Amino acid sequence: MPAASGGSAAGGAPGSGGAAGQGGATVMGSGGAPGDPADAGVPQPIDEAFADMARQFAADYLSWGRVDDELRWAPSLCRMPLPGIARPSKSNDATTHGQKLYSVFAKNHAAYPDGPQDGQIVVKQSWTAELVAPLSPGTFPPSWAQFDVDGGDHFYGYAERDGSIYRAAEFAGLYIMFRLAPDTPNTDEGWVYATVTPDGQITAAGKVASCMGCHEVATHERLFGVPLSPILPN
Ligand code: HEC
Repeated sequence: MPAASGGSAAGGAPGSGGAAGQGGATVMGSGGAPGDPADAGVPQPIDEAFADMARQFAADYLSWGRVDDELRWAPSLCRMPLPGIARPSKSNDATTHGQKLYSVFAKNHAAYPDGPQDGQIVVKQSWTAELVAPLSPGTFPPSWAQFDVDGGDHFYGYAERDGSIYRAAEFAGLYIMFRLAPDTPNTDEGWVYATVTPDGQITAAGKVASCMGCHEVATHERLFGVPLSPILPN
């Protein structure tokens, strides 16, 4: 199931049983699982109650839809609606999002990213980025009309970065954020952070300092707000 068919983008549901590839020679990042200690030796907190919630969200998130899947959310646009697309992370932190491609899902699509945040759950699906070819005009592979369609999920697993085309190759796990009541103990003013490996192991859940270090300066409470519409590479 998680294997990409016919060399196309890895657009299917990674599910919880997806085998984690270790990446090949052409992979941009190390392919490490999320939650690999940024600062080796410092254990990430795992709050069991939050870990149970994260496990449930990891099982459910595919049904919520990608935040930028226009075929799902805006099927009657006056231009051709596009699927969710793989995006290169803006983060340079190789131990978390850096060097990976991602796609974001939100439980409350209408409230992403501005809020209201109460009850919001956001899941960032991440992928290793495999170099396909240098970018040249008109040759973005395959054409935008070709993308995987799987039970209402629409994902185009190619992205441009630094003049090259990359493919979402191996599922590299989930980054989850959810927002409880702001006075909930052991949360970041209600926000809980969690990481899940490709084979479904929770590697952090709770008030995770390494996540907060970046997300505290985000502009939608703790969310950065990723683009809702595709940016066409060419
Ligand atoms: C080095 C800074 C940095 C760290 C550390 C970091 N993030 Fe992020 N995060 C970002 C940026 C920047 C984005 C916007 C998308 C992108 O470019 O990757 C983002 C996006 C996200 C999103 C998508 C929702 C949104 O709108 O923000 C989730 C969910 C997320 N991060 C979870 C986590 C978790 C969980 C951790 C801790 C394991 C973490 N992040 C650590 C910088 C960081």
